[in-house]
Amino acid sequence: MKGVILAGGTGTRLRPLTDIVNKHLLPVGKYPMIHYAIAKMAEAGVKELLLVLGKHSAGLYMEYIGNGRRWGLEVSYKIQEEAGGIAQALALAESFVRPDQKLLVLLGDNLFEDSLKEAVLWFERQPDGAHVFLKKVPDPHRYGVPVLQGDHISTIVEKPEQPPSQYAVTGIYLYDARVFDYIRMQNPSARGEMEITDVNNVYAGQGQLTWTLLNGWWTDAGTHRSLQEAAARLMGSEES
Ligand code: DAU
Repeated sequence: MKGVILAGGTGTRLRPLTDIVNKHLLPVGKYPMIHYAIAKMAEAGVKELLLVLGKHSAGLYMEYIGNGRRWGLEVSYKIQEEAGGIAQALALAESFVRPDQKLLVLLGDNLFEDSLKEAVLWFERQPDGAHVFLKKVPDPHRYGVPVLQGDHISTIVEKPEQPPSQYAVTGIYLYDARVFDYIRMQNPSARGEMEITDVNNVYAGQGQLTWTLLNGWWTDAGTHRSLQEAAARLMGSEES
């Protein structure tokens, strides 16, 4: 299983802090935000990790992470020149993943409690498809929202005014290597971004998008309030 952390983007909702430093380097408890996603990758059994970064603060990531030895990982880096969307950032991982390999993808601003180890082992044994992790939230309109059909998701609606369920699709994804073909099939959305939800909906349309509910806490630390909440939860933890 290859690992990919997406840490590009502009972090506009965290301005003015992100005028100085990239969002994923902001402190959350004892560590910079990016630390937690890297630790989750190592815990899940990933050995080779690709970090997709924007140009902003790119050197600082290397100072903190280096080659990843501290986590028992082999880390490499790619630069996303402009924030063209999550799917565009993921496309940069194509040469990192062989056609017979699978990948665990984390959005760098997603902080959470659950271990991904079991799901990763289970997904390795599946012939193909994609898998997402859901969390029940009070404000689903802020996220991708799934329509559930038993074990499968029939479709995901991105930031809907009328959410079709109470769940958020979190920024934790498992894919087979066909994901890169499915990204190529997409066009930018109305907000000008290549949307990961459009890619996930290709799998959903084929009945190949399965899901797991996260048991522990989860937050998308993309706003000042959620960043503070995440820091309060993680403060004091030695490693997460
Ligand atoms: O957090 C979960 C949500 O993340 C999902 O429910 C949504 O379906 C998904 O679209 C995404 O929504 P956001 O609006 O929160 O995404 P945001 O633009 O904040 O980007 C999240 C992360 O993705 C960010 O921390 C870094 C990475 N990213 C984003 C963009 C736009 C990139 O690496 N490159 C990019 O161009």
